Amino acid sequence: MCWSCSASRRGGVSHGTARGCAAAAVATLTLSAPLLCSSAEPTAPKYAAGATVFQANCAVCHGQNGAGTPSLAPPLTSYPARYAASAEGRRQLAVTVLYGMFGEVVVEEKHYNFKMPDFTRLDDAALAAVLNFVVFDLARAAQSTKPLTAEEIAAERRQPMDGAAVRERRAGVLAALGL
Ligand code: HEC
Repeated sequence: MCWSCSASRRGGVSHGTARGCAAAAVATLTLSAPLLCSSAEPTAPKYAAGATVFQANCAVCHGQNGAGTPSLAPPLTSYPARYAASAEGRRQLAVTVLYGMFGEVVVEEKHYNFKMPDFTRLDDAALAAVLNFVVFDLARAAQSTKPLTAEEIAAERRQPMDGAAVRERRAGVLAALGL
């Protein structure tokens, strides 16, 4: 049952999976709020392979330009750059894409509460690439930030956790970064 999808409850649409639910929610929001779509001219991404992974797997919730979906999926345009600058933050990025995230989070003082699916089915190189697209192309991390590597993803893949634990872990990362 798609209990976490308020848009489907409002619209009376029923979907079997969180992802179908999210797609329905995003479609609904996009129809009612076309301004969510960026009108900015696209520039060539630094991490083109990561951009392809992002558009195929992440844009449905986070938007093509990472601006997020109000109340459902947070923007990826600022915090990921901060995470990538610390060791614990880098591990947090890796476990988020590997294991998803579940429960209420606050990003830039706005609340989100939905379920991000896990992406263990994508390999380490694809996950490193998509995170680099997020960190450098969407969140515009400083040049001095080191790109994430497949090895960093592999290290976290050896230590499975669930999406609720990923969310709990996030609180410590934010506190350490002063966010
Ligand atoms: C079904 C919708 C959905 C999809 C698909 C999705 N996400 Fe998410 N993502 C979320 C939600 C919702 C959260 C916040 C989780 C919560 O509310 O506990 C989140 C959180 C995140 C965060 C953490 C942000 C922070 O400030 O801690 C990152 C990073 C992220 N997603 C990246 C991605 C990437 C990269 C992909 C594609 C590989 C992806 N997401 C696919 C919904 C989604």
